[in-house]
Amino acid sequence: MKKKKRIGVLTSGGDCPGLNAVLHGVCRAADKLDWEVIGFRDGFEGLLPPGDSLPLNRQSTAGIMHLGGTILGTTNRGHFMAKSNTGARGAISRSVLDRAKNTIESLGISALITIGGDGSLSIALQLWEHGVPVVGVPKTIDNDLEATAMTFGFDSAVACVADALDRLHTTATSHKRVMVLEVMGRHAGWIALHGGLAGGADIILIPEIPFDYEQIALEVKRRESKGAKSTMIVVAEGAKPRHGRQMRHATASGEHRLGGIADRVGREVASRTDKEVRTCVLGHLQRGGAPTSADRILGTRFGVKAVQLINEEKFGTMVSYQNDQTLDVPISHAVHRLRHVDPNSQLVQTARALDISFGD
Ligand code: F6P
Repeated sequence: MKKKKRIGVLTSGGDCPGLNAVLHGVCRAADKLDWEVIGFRDGFEGLLPPGDSLPLNRQSTAGIMHLGGTILGTTNRGHFMAKSNTGARGAISRSVLDRAKNTIESLGISALITIGGDGSLSIALQLWEHGVPVVGVPKTIDNDLEATAMTFGFDSAVACVADALDRLHTTATSHKRVMVLEVMGRHAGWIALHGGLAGGADIILIPEIPFDYEQIALEVKRRESKGAKSTMIVVAEGAKPRHGRQMRHATASGEHRLGGIADRVGREVASRTDKEVRTCVLGHLQRGGAPTSADRILGTRFGVKAVQLINEEKFGTMVSYQNDQTLDVPISHAVHRLRHVDPNSQLVQTARALDISFGD
């Protein structure tokens, strides 16, 4: 009897809503082709001998599409340390790549689907260059990858920001306060811009448009003089003042994580106005919970496309989304290329036309 084709799949880096939808799509599409699927636990770490894996199939992944997180587990630490965005991008050691390749070969896996962001794609590229047939699926709530117009997880994060603003708005208005909401997004302002627009923010601060504390205070006063009962400010974690730097805090492990800008903006506004100011850091609420319908659909499309790319033996590629089509691009063209908000884009202009200030 002919042996069934077997593929591997893993989720790597920070989790995000929609990962399980991808896994569900992969398993359904593979099942249709009568292939077997092996899932590796905890990202690339699961590839290290003896290999931490489990069989996945249509039955075992039934009903997971709407679940947040990833049933496979994930990590952005460990033996495959390939830092994303600003961190050093050390090459993975040859022995680690060898060991991962051995696991894949010993399990009879003919291709590996890696679902992850920029850092994970850079690991996938190194595995591909080391002889492992790989197909990448892009993932990040930040929506900041140049090679794809959209990543799943983003819409869910934006929905979370909009919901938070709806809630904060009622309490801010009752107390006639200024409310500052800090959101994720790393060095890009996509979550802040989309979430701020959807949630009716009055001021949106993004990394791509350096702001001025005095302008923000003037805007708060101007709004008050016109009778506004509250001012809602959304600030991206990577936003910075015109002549200042991004705010970071050191962790016990020595990492420097973005964060703290809402507190600073709040203090500056309070000291320049007579307004009461409160701040809120939305944090990992943006990454948790069920994916929106849009993210379930996009994740499903990405999973199905990844299986199709394996079927076409288009290895070393990444699934990409452009003009409502799932396509493929070489992983090498996708890594280390981040997409930022264009300060002159139509969306920014639309926001300005709504009298939304960017604090500039
Ligand atoms: O890249 C996704 C993201 O959620 C960023 O928006 C945020 O800065 C970072 O990951 C947080 O990472 P961690 O979960 O490691 O704290």
